[in-house]
Amino acid sequence: MKQSQRDGRVFALYEQLLEIEQRLIPTGLHIFGRPSSAGEKTDLLKMIASFDRPELGVRALPDAVIDEAISEFLATGTDAAVRLLQQKGLSAEATRPVCELLETVSAKLQTNSELDSLVRALRGEFIEPGPGADIIQNPDILPTGRNTHALNPYGVPSAAAFARSEAVANSLLDRYKQENGRYPEAMALVLWGLDNIKTQGEGVAQALWLLGVRPVRDALNRITSVAAIPLSELGRPRIDVVMTISGIFRDLFSPTVQLLDKAVRLVAQLDEPLEMNYVRKHVLEQVRQDACDIDDAAVRVFSNAPGNYGTNVNFMVMDSQWEREETLGDLFVTRKCFAYGRDSKGRAIEGTEARVAMDRALSRVEATYQNIDTFEIGLTDVDHYFEYLGGVSKAVEKRAKARPAIYLSDTLSREVKIRSLEETVRLETRAKTLNPKWYEGMLKHGFRGVAEIENHVSNTFGWSATADAVDDWIYSEVANTFLFDESMLERLRDLNPHSAHSMVQRLLEANGRGYWDVEESVLEKLREISRSLEDQLEGVI
Ligand code: BEZ
Ligand code: MG
Repeated sequence: MKQSQRDGRVFALYEQLLEIEQRLIPTGLHIFGRPSSAGEKTDLLKMIASFDRPELGVRALPDAVIDEAISEFLATGTDAAVRLLQQKGLSAEATRPVCELLETVSAKLQTNSELDSLVRALRGEFIEPGPGADIIQNPDILPTGRNTHALNPYGVPSAAAFARSEAVANSLLDRYKQENGRYPEAMALVLWGLDNIKTQGEGVAQALWLLGVRPVRDALNRITSVAAIPLSELGRPRIDVVMTISGIFRDLFSPTVQLLDKAVRLVAQLDEPLEMNYVRKHVLEQVRQDACDIDDAAVRVFSNAPGNYGTNVNFMVMDSQWEREETLGDLFVTRKCFAYGRDSKGRAIEGTEARVAMDRALSRVEATYQNIDTFEIGLTDVDHYFEYLGGVSKAVEKRAKARPAIYLSDTLSREVKIRSLEETVRLETRAKTLNPKWYEGMLKHGFRGVAEIENHVSNTFGWSATADAVDDWIYSEVANTFLFDESMLERLRDLNPHSAHSMVQRLLEANGRGYWDVEESVLEKLREISRSLEDQLEGVI
């Protein structure tokens, strides 16, 4: 290998290690009613100080001085921190706003009225409202223990969310183009309610950018319409976007559901070359092939039947209730094939079953995508990411007769980062499941902590089942870390033998279903551990 090649590889490795090291992870569960510890507070303030907040006139502190500045702030206060930063060559005008923000946040972190508010709520008393958001993106969520409210759906996407999302949509398309030599003609997006509350509609804004439209406000300053961004300005084709929205999104963001549907229908009607407008291209193709009308061919916003929630793909995976993987994708469509929006005559389509339309729309999809907006909940923390993004990807695989490229972004870091699903699973595994800082934090919670570790393993397995996105080494390292290390196995056994047993079973299932290629001797060891845990649970030993 040439010197320059070797340097390149070492540098790429260094960058990956840095990414894992700097990844924010929650180190333990929140304990209701308890304010954050000194260590947690320091980490949080550091993160808060590392973001520009133009709306507050706050500039981020540079990485080189941030640790020292936060220590000084915590030890001696705002003025001392500003003075220290002046010694480092930063003007007081530049640093005072961020230090004052830290002072406010720090004071609010000190108070915790969660228990008090709960008791008052149970007495039927008034609880002050407060915004729901990610703490780093919007520190106004503090103090906790208030009545979390959502937002005005007519304000979504906010100007800031729309501006931020241009770079995300571009990076996403660039990444696909790098790997495939051209733009994807159609993408499937997952949109969740709580995420769009937290980000004031970044997911919605990303969908609008892919379509090449911008939000338009009416005379009452409500976002009720969209306008096409001219192709000359967009500089690329409009992408066909199939949106699966959660039941929560459908319920909370009714005007936004209409907006998204309106955007697709507007783009479908634009008189533009078909190679620059994939929505129009596909709608016209479908009208010709199926002899249907434009209204039916332009359905792109899908959710559950009215009053229903979720895909159930997670339950089917967790209960091992499937034989062929395509059943998982079919279940996704069965649950989510209800159309929402308005037809060309203005008649509401409120959850009409549209299975054929969804099958058709998914059959053209080449890439699937979801935005991750908080460091607290990632791909393997909950079963909802694989039920949605995994579920839709599996549905596409059968209908398009090819596995789509699967991407995630995290818009929580300062620069936009698009990762493939496989990359994200690796990063989450290294930063959380296999990271002693994370699992020791969990184990402090005893029974519940072991259950959390087991959940992570099962959620990782969910990515094998729906997307074949988990490397063999991940399962091997889970076995090495939690089951083949005798003292660790002892701890898990003592704290929660049920979850320890489920973990072993899940690993055996991963092998049985062909997701983990490993030597027979390893499996034999796992079976042995499984037997001894069963004996323990049955009270034999
Ligand atoms: C949502 O906010 O839309 C959502 C929350 C939990 C699971 C799935 C979706
Ligand atoms: Mg494999």
